[in-house]
Amino acid sequence: MTVIAKFRVIVGALTFLVLALSVQTASAQQPTMVNPQASAVKEGQLFEELNRISGRCTVPDQKACTIEQPAGRDWRHFHEVTLRWIGGIVIIGTLAMLIGFYLWRGMVKIEIGRSGRTIVRFNGFERFVHWMTATCFIILALSGLNITFGKPLLLPLIGPESFTAWSQLAKYAHNYLSFPFTIGVFLIFLMWIAGNIPNRVDVEWLKRGGGIVGHDHPPAYRFNAGQKMIYWIVVLGGAAVAASGYVLMFPFYGTDIAGMQVAQIAHAIVAVLFIAAMIGHIYIGTVGMEGAFEAMGTGTVDLNWAKEHHILWLEEEKARTGPNETRRQPATNPAE
Ligand code: HEM
Repeated sequence: MTVIAKFRVIVGALTFLVLALSVQTASAQQPTMVNPQASAVKEGQLFEELNRISGRCTVPDQKACTIEQPAGRDWRHFHEVTLRWIGGIVIIGTLAMLIGFYLWRGMVKIEIGRSGRTIVRFNGFERFVHWMTATCFIILALSGLNITFGKPLLLPLIGPESFTAWSQLAKYAHNYLSFPFTIGVFLIFLMWIAGNIPNRVDVEWLKRGGGIVGHDHPPAYRFNAGQKMIYWIVVLGGAAVAASGYVLMFPFYGTDIAGMQVAQIAHAIVAVLFIAAMIGHIYIGTVGMEGAFEAMGTGTVDLNWAKEHHILWLEEEKARTGPNETRRQPATNPAE
């Protein structure tokens, strides 16, 4: 082979090498013929034009064919932002107000002191219904609040595995305890309706601050205006959470996706207001008022407590059972 021929072979080989290398680099840099982004681009365009992503699908439940829509985004914003603000402000605000009130007013004492004699206020059945409903309520409140606040507050503290196990347990508790809770609210409605119809005495009681703000003792029958409010909050709030809760528990029976969203929003808002009201109720029944807890604890109250807070009821009871139908309280100090 001549020198020129050898030169041509070398130039040809080099040219081939350069071409091969440049084709490979270009194919590595440029998109392939099948563009993986193409369908997403179409969805993005559709989304911008129609504000929703929906289409046809083969699953039997046609609701699943709508992946995103404006009302769904509004609902998600309510659940993840608005509800957390409402719930946080209402619940923490109530706690803060009660702490402030306690520091200012302190416990409402039995001003004339205890008499040592008691009178029956709630019988065994009434106390059973009260505590069954109250226990269910507390578990429903904690397990419900886990759905609202668990992810941002609890998950980072206890980690995903514990959070999953706790949330599953909480969800079962929320579903199953709803039944005894509903029965309890219904029994409360029947048991105490007679004493909870508003009357003129309530207006006077409210005008005089109910005795909790100042040191007055406005007369009241078995339930005063404050207790009547709690009664109606429990009956109406309980009915509202039960009705909306069962719509959520049995989804799409008689309602569509919009109905489910309304039920969830109603359930969540009534629930946080209900929780705040019950925090107030628990406050007065424990640290807020001397002698109140025993009414639901042992079922009896001191006569002087009844005189100060429910004088009209005490007179009715005495007229009904005779003036001596009171019990002497057992000695509280065993060393005496
Ligand atoms: C008959 C009574 C009740 C039933 C049938 C019921 C049912 C339900 C159901 C099915 C859910 C949705 C759970 C989920 O998304 O997986 C829920 C959520 C919730 N429940 Fe109840 N519930 C009842 C009573 C209560 C009570 C008494 C409270 C509060 C004291 C409460 C507070 C909540 C809260 C805060 C949520 C979460 C709301 C959210 O963030 O979406 N529930 N309930």
